[in-house]
Amino acid sequence: SAPPLVDSFQRRITYLRLSVTDRCDLRCSYCMPERMTFLPKKEVLSLEELYDLATGFIARGVTKIRITGGEPLVRRDIIDLFTALGRRLGHDLAELTLTTNGTQLATHAEALARAGVKRVNVSLDTLDRAKFAELTRRDSLPQVLEGIATAKAAGLKVKLNAVALKGVNEHELPDLIAWGHAQGHDVTLIEVMPLGDVEEERLDQYLPLDDVRARLEQRWTLRESNHRTGGPSRYVDIAETGGRLGFITPHTNNFCAGCNRLRVTATGQLYPCLGGGERVDLRAALRSDAPEANLAAALDEALRIKPEKHHFRMDARGAAPAVPRHMSMTGG
Ligand code: GTP
Ligand code: 5AD
Ligand code: SF4
Repeated sequence: SAPPLVDSFQRRITYLRLSVTDRCDLRCSYCMPERMTFLPKKEVLSLEELYDLATGFIARGVTKIRITGGEPLVRRDIIDLFTALGRRLGHDLAELTLTTNGTQLATHAEALARAGVKRVNVSLDTLDRAKFAELTRRDSLPQVLEGIATAKAAGLKVKLNAVALKGVNEHELPDLIAWGHAQGHDVTLIEVMPLGDVEEERLDQYLPLDDVRARLEQRWTLRESNHRTGGPSRYVDIAETGGRLGFITPHTNNFCAGCNRLRVTATGQLYPCLGGGERVDLRAALRSDAPEANLAAALDEALRIKPEKHHFRMDARGAAPAVPRHMSMTGG
């Protein structure tokens, strides 16, 4: 059978982040500009191609697939992909999940659960409607909250993702965590990363999570947890809330040594690292006259060029290398 995916640093790849669209119905300021140019639809892989691509990764030992975007649920008929991949759960796939902004969850949560999805990660940076509208440039907080409630009612385990932003949601984070935990959701805080057009504002908003953690420790009792989800998050349990809190710290506590993932854009470009660098064109392989062999060769190339770690920084103004690609291309 096909060899497992092991990179040149002996890291085994078992986790595929597969973007299904670059489009989104929100415009989070740290992710994309208001006037974003989206890809022509013909550039984007068909649902069949996405399925075939996933199959190619599964054949090489990927057991976890996270569907990302853009916003995956704005893609028409996307539930068909979940349903098709969901049939492989319990066979050659251990987990199928997605990261979503939640705006369409009220519509799709039931169908996702039926397809076999057990967990969803929902981006939510603030519970303040005006702040949400400012940050995402859309007044969609009520819709997102409804989506989260529907997901819970459908039996999905929800993890809330909050990007920690100085002067934006910094002082609200304890309330957001307390609210999430009261609802039975895990919460994860994320350090903002320099992808896309990084403006002064984003550099100003960077908040190291060790600071946040120190402040939380003055209020609550945090205990290290050995809970792991296969992603970069490191968790603590909070005694007072009874909930779990994750920290994703690309800047203050690099996790690249444990990297187990590859990411593919909606046009089939494989990025071996979120931190930029070369990409590998899987679409060309898929559309060639020997798709299986060419896909295998393309994956081998990706393993060969996967870097040891990312080199982006938020704290060295001017010198900080940014990644030209927007986060919405690869979904993180
Ligand atoms: P689970 O662990 O399965 O819950 O998911 P996850 O935390 O891996 O995925 P999610 O889509 O919720 O991503 C949360 C944040 O982690 C996003 O900001 C991603 O950009 C970031 N992230 C995920 N993988 C990587 C990675 O390999 N490198 C970096 N720097 N960030 C990552
Ligand atoms: N830095 C860190 N996280 C980001 N996300 C989007 N853009 C950035 C950024 N520049 C987060 C979203 C979502 C996840 C997929 O990535 O909030 O939760
Ligand atoms: Fe859309 Fe997610 Fe980017 Fe926000 S972070 S604009 S919700 S893709």
